[in-house]
Amino acid sequence: MCGITGYVGAREASEVVLQGLHTLEYRGYDSAGVAAFINGNINVVKAVGKVSNVEEKIAALGTLKGAHCGIGHTRWATHGAPSDTNSHPHGTENIQIVHNGIIENYAPLRAMLQSNGFTFVSETDTEVAAKLIEYHYNNCHSREDALVYAMRDIIGSYAIAVMFRDCPETLYAIRKDNPLIIGVGEGENFVASDIAAVLRYTKTYYQLGDLELAIVTKDSICMMDMDKKEVSHPLLTATWSIEAAERGGYDHFMIKEINEEPEAVEKTLHPRIRDMMPNFEEENLSDERLKNAKSVTFVACGTAMHAGLVGKTAIEQLCRVPVKVEIASEFRYNDPILSEEDLVVIISQSGETADSLAALRLAKEKGAYTLGIVNVIGSTIAREADNVIYTWAGPEISVASTKAYTVQISLIYLLTIKMAYLKGKISEAEAKEYTRILYEDMPSLIKDTIAKEEEIKDAAKLFAKYEDLFFIGRGIDYHLAMEGSLKLKEISYIHSEAYAAGELKHGTISLITTEMPVIALATQEELYEKMISNIREVKARGAKVLLVAREGAKDAAAEAEKVIYLPRCEKFFTSIPLATVLQMLAYYVARERGCDIDKPRNLAKSVTVE
Ligand code: AGP
Repeated sequence: MCGITGYVGAREASEVVLQGLHTLEYRGYDSAGVAAFINGNINVVKAVGKVSNVEEKIAALGTLKGAHCGIGHTRWATHGAPSDTNSHPHGTENIQIVHNGIIENYAPLRAMLQSNGFTFVSETDTEVAAKLIEYHYNNCHSREDALVYAMRDIIGSYAIAVMFRDCPETLYAIRKDNPLIIGVGEGENFVASDIAAVLRYTKTYYQLGDLELAIVTKDSICMMDMDKKEVSHPLLTATWSIEAAERGGYDHFMIKEINEEPEAVEKTLHPRIRDMMPNFEEENLSDERLKNAKSVTFVACGTAMHAGLVGKTAIEQLCRVPVKVEIASEFRYNDPILSEEDLVVIISQSGETADSLAALRLAKEKGAYTLGIVNVIGSTIAREADNVIYTWAGPEISVASTKAYTVQISLIYLLTIKMAYLKGKISEAEAKEYTRILYEDMPSLIKDTIAKEEEIKDAAKLFAKYEDLFFIGRGIDYHLAMEGSLKLKEISYIHSEAYAAGELKHGTISLITTEMPVIALATQEELYEKMISNIREVKARGAKVLLVAREGAKDAAAEAEKVIYLPRCEKFFTSIPLATVLQMLAYYVARERGCDIDKPRNLAKSVTVE
């Protein structure tokens, strides 16, 4: 996600701000920029690429030298590809802002501002926020009121630092659903997305509250609510090292990113839901395209391919359209049978996976319509697909993909609801109810799943000492077993195999012994009894069994050594909380085994070669 930082005090502002941006680099970004007060103006230097590019530009231009108040930003693109123009800060000669978050209603706000004479140079939602604040300031002539009015208008999540030209040496800040801290120094103060950015200068800080604003000078900090009533917050002291702060206090990026799943799902889905119906207008994904698709082919690698398997189950169940799921490295050499009536969906977190990119190009050569589901804005797959729907999961640092996968399957469910409705397979009321569950219930359902951390930790201890194990499941649980098995293998180095539970008796049950534990996934009511029979089969041969079942599953506790119950969930969406359980299970097994969780041996985050 983006990172913001700001400084006011006696030091060279650009140096302090750049230092903060370097510390925020770990968050993943694709461009950066700095703005600072100089001789009654706000000068801006920004560039696509690394923070060092901005550093070189600042040194060469010299236009920020001598400034003692400034803001800076590392951008993880969400609206608009990485470019100098789309880099932050954004604004005009009168106001400059940096922003972390997503403004869901940026399009109607931009239209309102354009009708009031504003023009736009970038594709970003942030530029809309900057000009919205200026619009209100021009009308009400109060900076605090302008910020309050903007907060009332904006739907979405944001941490924003603001500089007004007519109020030099002063930083303003507002936030909603995105963290923003105010660092407290001696004769100097700071604002930042997280304490890591300012830890070099101070360990004491305030957490600005939700829907609050702050006015910060070198000697004063004033925080207030939207009624402009002053509020106070405890002065906190960071006990973290800079390295720990970069992980937001988590031990590893992987568990941090799992904990980001509720917000990532919300940020990705909410802007694509209007009147409680899926809405892909911003992506120019026509209803005809979805309605007329005769078949769907998901093509991807690894975890992304497993997201395609969830899509297969969902689309075939709700839309009654045949779905194929292809491993990209196979697809590209299989001379696939495709026509212009086929919808080929390339799923990729990085958008740079060589096999997936080759598959995309082949599908286009064969005339199929290609849709990318991609996390990195402006990546090659995103640019070359006929269309793209971005997963706004934020940067995924850990090699093992977690939040990207959870967001991929959530987005695929939203697409499925849209397609099923357009094909007349579900009523508007059914579509609205399914969408409501995703919109309202899913983020908190994932939170409730993450809250099962202690149970999952205990279960992990059962398996950490083994070198081999089976995941078994039926239907969607078999597809999740494949993802759970990959997660466990890649970070704990335990050899595991995902097997269709009904297949065991056709050969592999010969492998079941007291030294071959089994993780059984049984979340589907209509298959539960069948799964219990399979569990009894493997237990009879000595296997220890962990059962993952839905809440209230009959006699589950009597059937397995350990049971993890999913929070109560609409059956159609069970794979979402189940995925989180499996990700956490793999994480805690790997932690038990002392593995290098974020950087497993032999693996790269993005496989850009064959
Ligand atoms: C996921 O845990 C793996 N690291 C890997 O399988 C990954 O999903 C695969 O390489 C695809 O990457 P992509 O989503 O960036 O295309």
